[in-house]
Amino acid sequence: MQSLQKNDKPTASSHAAIIRARNLSRTYTLGESRITGVDAVDLEIAAGELVLLTGVSGSGKSTLLSLLAGLDRPTAGELTVAGRDLSQASGASLDDYRRHVVGMVFQSFNLMPTLDVLENVCLPALLAGRPMADVRKRATELLGWLNLGPRLAHLPAQLSGGEMQRTAIARALINDPAVILADEPTGNLDSRNGAVVIDLLTELNRASGKTIVIATHGGLADKAATRRIRLGDGRIQWDG
Ligand SMILES: Nc1ncnc2c1ncn2[C@@H]1O[C@H](COP(=O)(O)OP(=O)(O)OP(=O)(O)O)[C@@H](O)[C@H]1O
Ligand SMILES: [Mg+2]
Repeated sequence: MQSLQKNDKPTASSHAAIIRARNLSRTYTLGESRITGVDAVDLEIAAGELVLLTGVSGSGKSTLLSLLAGLDRPTAGELTVAGRDLSQASGASLDDYRRHVVGMVFQSFNLMPTLDVLENVCLPALLAGRPMADVRKRATELLGWLNLGPRLAHLPAQLSGGEMQRTAIARALINDPAVILADEPTGNLDSRNGAVVIDLLTELNRASGKTIVIATHGGLADKAATRRIRLGDGRIQWDG
């Protein structure tokens, strides 16, 4: 466990927080103008939560998820996930973080078009240096659990949207991350396939204790959430 900073209140949630942001900001500079992505966000998410990130288009959901994913760096503030300080991390340690700590699921699936289903799922584990035989076994098990057993040798273009997103979920799980980040994971799916994806994420949260953060416009995940955080203009909006 990390040592407490001077100003931390020693609450139960701060002890268990797996994600902790302090004054976290990401601004973009385009010519003369500065655009706010995320603005001075303070946030603690405890291990095992399933958090919904809501807010209108442009409110900062994807920017915040990219920071949590180690795909982007904050321009100010602090961010710690699973004990790793992402605001100060080198490029190499962010690579390592993305391979071992987080799994990402995107609206547009982001599968490699020239790799088949099994290869797409194996890739992050092979990049992490794990042995091929173990990786193929684990990937095949995951894909079986996701009802993709008969699709292992298919290319992404030969899959339905729901199958592509289930492949992406298997890929996100292959390195057994503690945290799963999903950016509009149901945005390109019909309501039935969207519900399947939310049920899978819920099961991963309940049965495997994964901490999950889902950016979403829709209400599909409302019932599954332990908490809902609304962003507006890059800031957390407190209701009431
Ligand atoms: N690479 C970038 N360069 C400049 N501005 C950006 C960049 N990425 C995001 N922004 C801006 O940051 C703000 C937050 O964008 P973000 O994509 O995080 O919103 P969002 O809540 O995910 O929206 P949506 O619901 O449409 O996906 C917007 O004003 C957006 O235009
Ligand atoms: Mg977005």
